[in-house]
Amino acid sequence: MNQKLPRHVAIVMDGNGRWAENRGLPRVEGHRVGVETVKTIVQSCLKNKIAVLSLFAFSSENWARPASEVDFLMQLFVQALGREIQELHQHGVRLRFTGDRSHLSELLRSEMQAAEALTGENNQLTLNIALNYGGKWDIVQAAKKLAQQVIDNNISFENIDEAAFAKSLNTADLPDPDLFIRTSGEQRISNFFLWQLAYTELYFSDILWPDFTAAELEKALACFSMRKRRYGLTTEKDYV
Ligand code: FPP
Repeated sequence: MNQKLPRHVAIVMDGNGRWAENRGLPRVEGHRVGVETVKTIVQSCLKNKIAVLSLFAFSSENWARPASEVDFLMQLFVQALGREIQELHQHGVRLRFTGDRSHLSELLRSEMQAAEALTGENNQLTLNIALNYGGKWDIVQAAKKLAQQVIDNNISFENIDEAAFAKSLNTADLPDPDLFIRTSGEQRISNFFLWQLAYTELYFSDILWPDFTAAELEKALACFSMRKRRYGLTTEKDYV
């Protein structure tokens, strides 16, 4: 099929809790099954030759959930990384993490670092996991970084422009997302990428994340291929 594909897909994986509650299960069961969906979608992105997949795994605001759920999620990240890293590496996936690591456990941080080191040279798919991430946090840390550079005389005030700002964001080495997907019927950005979504095509699915399939991703990709992207211009602008 000769369809226009996004280079970077960013997903808010919403609906795990409701999926579990609908079945009379504890909410955390939804997260457990959600990891299986992550695997399916990673495989599908590899097959479709998507360059970057960003997944919102834990937001700056998620710390306000019950401690037992936060603990479960943190353990799930450590376990899933340990279990899947070799297979991801074999498939040429480069793992990278976006977010504030300072509040994560020593164990999780070292697993993240090891996964990034092991897969750093891979080039089939960049799997970017947003963990303890918030779009507002990212913008504030970028502003602080630039302010420090001005203080240190490494950049002049006049040279602060959009490109310099983008380079200070946590996603500096990634292209901006072309397609944003949120599952579960909610139609919000919820403090995911804010700067980076300026011209991203938005797609909302009613499917809860544990039920999201490769076929649902294909639907989103097909919808994306029909969109006319104008970037503020009057006619569609070609993009790579
Ligand atoms: C939102 O559903 C989901 C999360 C906050 C956690 C998502 C995490 C995973 C799917 C595990 C991913 C693992 C790796 C290794 C990337 P919700 O709990 O807000 O659902 P609700 O809106 O129905 O309550």
